[in-house]
Amino acid sequence: MELRVNERVERLRLDPRVTLLDTVRDRLGLTGTKKGCDRGQCGACTVHVDGRRVLACLTLAGSVTGKRVTTIEGLARGSALHPVQQAFLDHDGFQCGFCTSGQIMSAVAVLREGQARSPEQIREVMSGNICRCGAYGPIVDAIRAVGAAD
Ligand code: FES
Ligand code: FES
Repeated sequence: MELRVNERVERLRLDPRVTLLDTVRDRLGLTGTKKGCDRGQCGACTVHVDGRRVLACLTLAGSVTGKRVTTIEGLARGSALHPVQQAFLDHDGFQCGFCTSGQIMSAVAVLREGQARSPEQIREVMSGNICRCGAYGPIVDAIRAVGAAD
């Protein structure tokens, strides 16, 4: 099947049961997308499909043919980090970093959707992304900073 990931067209022979998460990590080597629970509960595997956030562990690779998939590796423009990536650095929005790529992918989508107007709203729309280190405060600060700059 043919997948379009981070603006590259990839032609792969895939079992129709394989998930998008296993495809990007194991077949394409894009290991920035993390496997936490593998059952839709932690958000670590969040990627974008046609600009909207999806859980890659619950998405079959075969269901996104013809669509635009973006992983954390596709956010930066050359050496220039995406503003949300930079804000996570500036606000210490991570500790171990395991959840961070999923948090950033969700944050980019909710900012794009205009769903990050208050700290309470940010906490609500980001509630599907779990951080075992508890970096929630700085994550909210980072998202607010980018939202305020828009
Ligand atoms: S790995 Fe997909 S939600 Fe946890
Ligand atoms: S920074 Fe460690 S799980 Fe979130």
